[in-house]
Amino acid sequence: MTTTPSASRPQLIDGMGRTIVNLRISVTDRCNFRCTYCMPADNVEFMDRSNLLSFEEIQRVAQIVSRMGINRLRLTGGEPLMRKNLPVLIKMLNEVDGIDDIAMTTNAYFLKEHAQSLKDAGLKRLNVSLDALDPEKFRDVNRRDCLQSVLDGLDTARKVGFKSIKINAVAVRNFSETEIMGLIEMGRSEGFEIRFIEFMPLDSDKVWERDKVLFGHEIVEMIKENYELVPVDNSLEIGPASEYNFADGKGKIGIITAVSNPFCDHCNRIRMTADGKLRTCLFSTDETNLKDLIRTGATDETIIETLKQAVLVKEPGHKINLDDFERPDRAMHAIGG
Ligand code: 5AD
Ligand code: SF4
Repeated sequence: MTTTPSASRPQLIDGMGRTIVNLRISVTDRCNFRCTYCMPADNVEFMDRSNLLSFEEIQRVAQIVSRMGINRLRLTGGEPLMRKNLPVLIKMLNEVDGIDDIAMTTNAYFLKEHAQSLKDAGLKRLNVSLDALDPEKFRDVNRRDCLQSVLDGLDTARKVGFKSIKINAVAVRNFSETEIMGLIEMGRSEGFEIRFIEFMPLDSDKVWERDKVLFGHEIVEMIKENYELVPVDNSLEIGPASEYNFADGKGKIGIITAVSNPFCDHCNRIRMTADGKLRTCLFSTDETNLKDLIRTGATDETIIETLKQAVLVKEPGHKINLDDFERPDRAMHAIGG
């Protein structure tokens, strides 16, 4: 798979000096769930399928960005497993020279059926969204009554050999408090890293307000009532989560303080939507249309130049905490988590 050491490749560096090594690729905006923090309950307008990048087009983008120093990919949605034949795409991405790591964020509903073929195709890591272990609370937040399918999916993923499985729980005030310790106990006994993500203003329903965010430091305090936690040094330099080990050596948690203490200074990622728009931030208010470039026959060199220019003006950080914050037009399911 990898023949060129990443160090010898040119790098994609933004105007703030941040090196971009990570591309998140949304493969569909469709989802079989309707999580309250992401999608509306009904009447969702999805992208026309003709606007979705084909697997070949996605592979071409991966080939180009891998020449620019990106070596990590994550597939997102909507729900990525709503896209047919996803293992075929994973195989194609695995064949790209310079790509060292392919991960996926999923709601796990279809994992029972697909975990084996995803593993065989070369998917390395999984992040599973799971906010509640109480079936009724699961139904309230995900608007689907299917906790058991998600647990079965997790179980199958483990059985087929996925080693690094992380669980993402969105932290919502007056909702998540009752679920935190249950998730922690499951993580410790099953070996999943549980990550709590502060609720961000990316919900289609636009009900987000600061008062609805359960803050990371509050979660840490709650856990500390039962367990001693040891902060992992420099974890923010590697990813968005501040990580803590349990002092007894059994497991690890991550806290993503996307609102209260954003990791923008360390951000090393860009995103591509399912309709081929490059976004340099979750909260970008404008996008670069890669799809049109690709479909009008642009050369690799033109696309490389476009990517460089877009990355150069990557947003220094999001403005959730500032007066001039503007919500992006797209909700989370159309951006890719
Ligand atoms: N705030 C925080 N996290 C969110 N996710 C989806 N919407 C939001 C939001 N508004 C997370 C989900 C999922 C990932 C794709 O993004 O937990 O794991
Ligand atoms: Fe679907 Fe993920 Fe959005 Fe939930 S958060 S509705 S699982 S895309």
